[in-house]
Amino acid sequence: MIKKAVLPVAGFGTRCLPASKAIPKEMITIVDRPVIQYVVQEAVSAGIRDIVLVTHGSKGAIENHFDTHFELEASLEAKGKHELLEELRSIVPDDVNIISVRQSEPLGLGHAVLCARPVIGDAEPFAVLLPDVLVDDEGLARNDLAGMIDAFERSGHAQLMVQEVPHALVDKYGIVDTGGEIPGPGESRALSGLVEKPAVDEAPSDLAVIGRYVLPGAIFPILAETPPGAGNEIQLTDAIETLRRQAGVDAWRMYGKTYDCGHQLGYLEAILAYGRRHPRYGEGFRDLLTRYAGED
Ligand code: G1P
Repeated sequence: MIKKAVLPVAGFGTRCLPASKAIPKEMITIVDRPVIQYVVQEAVSAGIRDIVLVTHGSKGAIENHFDTHFELEASLEAKGKHELLEELRSIVPDDVNIISVRQSEPLGLGHAVLCARPVIGDAEPFAVLLPDVLVDDEGLARNDLAGMIDAFERSGHAQLMVQEVPHALVDKYGIVDTGGEIPGPGESRALSGLVEKPAVDEAPSDLAVIGRYVLPGAIFPILAETPPGAGNEIQLTDAIETLRRQAGVDAWRMYGKTYDCGHQLGYLEAILAYGRRHPRYGEGFRDLLTRYAGED
């Protein structure tokens, strides 16, 4: 069973400025909790028990969010606010560990994942979740990450979550080549190639890698040898392409819907989606939506 996941959170969040100037972009609120809490919940729902945050000195708020706040808890206890206290305590279930390591230089996503090597080791498979992307598992009995973990355990192949994106946007993503065959939702297909941020007219498909990966520990020695690629950064995609040539890699076509919370409209859409169905605020939020829908 895959029990470990790496969440790279060291980036400055330039796309989210000015919101991310003094707080980490991962701490921007979607309805009543920060983006990162949804991503940790997604990992935990898929059976992950060790969450490795690859972080930076300026992003202590993320670690604090997942740590016990003793004084706050004592104060809520004294005031008899038991429901709120329970909600805070359940942010991290008792059997889940939050571990952090530092990425001391911004050398790219591949380098960030490599920073988790001492914690994960080369012998164990693990998941990677990029916290800019929220994967909405509403209505699914098992979320996409759990499906990817199952597919890894059946095939032994790394799994990359993919989704179709508009053709004009392929240069913003890692793009996969599935030999012209597009897997159906919840299916995985062997890849015949992948490339990071190709030029729009050179992309092998419109299927983009969307921030969720299940990888073998063998990716670490490959990452350690991967030279800088697109944007002069050490790219996870380039290391996975080397892994594909050595051992095979599959694309997992997702069921759920995604929101790119590294972009203002993406996170506004996430607020709409999660706000409308929120057990406490949903009804009031739907009233607001109706009221504002008529306005220009
Ligand atoms: C990263 C990956 C890219 C992936 C994208 C979306 O790019 O390098 O392959 O498609 O996330 O999840 P970034 O958005 O960090 O530039």
